[in-house]
Amino acid sequence: MRVAMIGTGYVGLVSGVCFSDFGHEVVCVDKDPAKLEMLRAGQVPIYEPGLQELMVRNMESGRLHFSNDLPAAVSEADAVFIAVGTPARRGDGHADLTYVFAAAEEIAHAIDDYTVVVIKSTVPVGTNRQVQKIIAMANPQADFDVASNPSGPVGA
Ligand SMILES: NC(=O)c1ccc[n+]([C@@H]2O[C@H](COP(=O)([O-])OP(=O)(O)OC[C@H]3O[C@@H](n4cnc5c(N)ncnc54)[C@H](O)[C@@H]3O)[C@@H](O)[C@H]2O)c1
Repeated sequence: MRVAMIGTGYVGLVSGVCFSDFGHEVVCVDKDPAKLEMLRAGQVPIYEPGLQELMVRNMESGRLHFSNDLPAAVSEADAVFIAVGTPARRGDGHADLTYVFAAAEEIAHAIDDYTVVVIKSTVPVGTNRQVQKIIAMANPQADFDVASNPSGPVGA
């Protein structure tokens, strides 16, 4: 399966590397150029024992790539995972879904074949429905479904 992982932080990087190790073709997308440069050089920016070895092995096998080109990654993917940050909002502490919704909009414009959009970020109940609406409004032709695959603590 071809996977695009949108957001290459703790959750996206660990998930993307592990999916590639299972044999999937994975493109990990991020907007942070410094992070991408580090990853492409085979360096892991987080503390996760064993991850670097696994990452480098799968990069060398050609199954794992790092990119800032979200449209290209999405248009080639069967499944697109949203793993961007959802920081607690100042004041009420609720998850700030700004990055999730922005990613959904970007993904929408790049869908050109049946795609499963999987929300991996930690989000409140009802978010799938909102993401579904954002994608359908941004790209009424898009053939897609939205699913949930929430992360527990990394490694869980
Ligand atoms: N870190 C954990 O241990 C943990 C555990 C469980 C759940 N979560 C949840 O997982 C989600 C991700 O957390 P994290 O700690 O990996 O976040 P993070 O902040 O480490 O990484 C998010 C990444 O997404 C990138 N990004 C944001 N918008 C983007 C876009 N439109 N396109 C491409 N890249 C984009 C950022 O540059 C950043 O590198 C959050 O919802 C968090 O609550 C995290």
